[in-house]
Amino acid sequence: MIRKSIVLLLMASVCAAGNVKDQGMTGEEMMSDWRRMNRTKEETAEWFQDARFGMFIHFGLYSIPAGVWKGKKIEDFNRPPHVAEWIQYVAQIPREEYAKLAAEFNPVKYNADSIAKLAVDAGMKYIVITSKHHDGFAMYDSKVSKFDVMDASPFKRDIVAELYQACKKYGLGFGVYYSHNIDWADGGDCQYAEVKKSYDEQGKDLHYFGANLWDPSPNTFQEYLDNKAIPQVKELLNKFPGMKCMWYDMSRFMFPEQSYRFYKTTYDIQPQVIVTNRIGNDFGDYIITGDNLIPEDPAGIDRPWETVGTLNNSWGYKSYDHDWKSAEELIFWLVEIASKGGNYMLNIGPKGDGEVPPECVERLREIGKWMNVNGEAIYSSGRWIVNHEGPTIISMDGTDAREKVGFKNNFKPDDFWFTRKDNKVYAIALAYPEKTSLIKNLGKKTAGKIRHVRMLGIEGPVVWKQRNDGLEVSMPERRPCEYGYALEITL
Ligand code: GLC
Repeated sequence: MIRKSIVLLLMASVCAAGNVKDQGMTGEEMMSDWRRMNRTKEETAEWFQDARFGMFIHFGLYSIPAGVWKGKKIEDFNRPPHVAEWIQYVAQIPREEYAKLAAEFNPVKYNADSIAKLAVDAGMKYIVITSKHHDGFAMYDSKVSKFDVMDASPFKRDIVAELYQACKKYGLGFGVYYSHNIDWADGGDCQYAEVKKSYDEQGKDLHYFGANLWDPSPNTFQEYLDNKAIPQVKELLNKFPGMKCMWYDMSRFMFPEQSYRFYKTTYDIQPQVIVTNRIGNDFGDYIITGDNLIPEDPAGIDRPWETVGTLNNSWGYKSYDHDWKSAEELIFWLVEIASKGGNYMLNIGPKGDGEVPPECVERLREIGKWMNVNGEAIYSSGRWIVNHEGPTIISMDGTDAREKVGFKNNFKPDDFWFTRKDNKVYAIALAYPEKTSLIKNLGKKTAGKIRHVRMLGIEGPVVWKQRNDGLEVSMPERRPCEYGYALEITL
């Protein structure tokens, strides 16, 4: 129940009016137009699902205070959430005061090339960076707004463009995050009052979560859409041809025709770009299951999907959050998600000076070592008849839940996660038994006849025997990698 409400709060957009019309279009007409556009994106959707593992980057003015405002930690303001990029909202910082951070923003250690290289080393296939987060500050050279890295900061380098070039160089897919509904600098009240009115009429509750009610800009939300958000989206799409995804976020107070407008604008410039469902009102090409949330049962998800995750418990850099997930835990996330047929986009939050925290670098390199050996079991894989067998059930229920519960490694030798590719099944274990392992779902009865078994990263044959009740494998003495092992089973 709690989990549901968090997801709804963070993900759901407000479908305030089914009868709202845009240029004479009904909701059904917009939806059928969406279907037409969505169908042309198959190639990118396939690329996306093959990629499986990507890097998210949250970088902005909020990286400077890093979770602390005037000596007070973000938690001490008693207003959720406690992620560092929300500092302006949580501390209710007036726009003018917050904007002064731009004058300090000089991330000389930012190095797009080494970030892209790090992603490659980790085995990631794409990068999505915050081009403009809820604070409204553009991290690229925007001609639409002076509140951008070129005009307002001493840095005067196009952070997003540099990353775009680096991604090209390393053959990584590229996408941008864009906060289209929530803009605390220029979005007025983010359309809260208007939506609230229609909610009141329907006798429904609406929380103001995310809206700027402490110091809204004087313009209307419509003016913001026409003069900032839509022009910036066009600007981004024109600047960065060949993009893979547009990562719209937080459509809390968006009407259907507005979500549709963002979708259509994206499509008209780059028809192949896939769009997150956080665009709102069901106009997404792929589903974001939630922040740090792995769906229990992915069977009902009818589009490609992605879980986004943090390395500690914040997206933007938070100076005092040392709760870094271990490489082993992160590998678990990746394996669990892949076994359910989804993508994992793992976030890094560079510091205010542009440095990627060494804790992130270390862990990504560790994952990379694992992926080097076992990547075959992850990339281009799909779901098998079952995603996991064994005693360890870990549910990942969102950022706060994970922070509270922590993580204990309890993987057992009889825990297996499965993926599938053509006539091959991959069984992935995160523990290494002393002598033999038995994989129950690969017995003759369940899986049919096995023709071949190979351990990834081990040259030469492994000794195996298929029994009625499972596949028995003798463990080679030399371990293929530090965390568990993966078997490729040819059926
Ligand atoms: C949420 C938060 C945001 C973060 C995002 C990452 O929507 O508002 O700060 O960027 O999730 O998924």
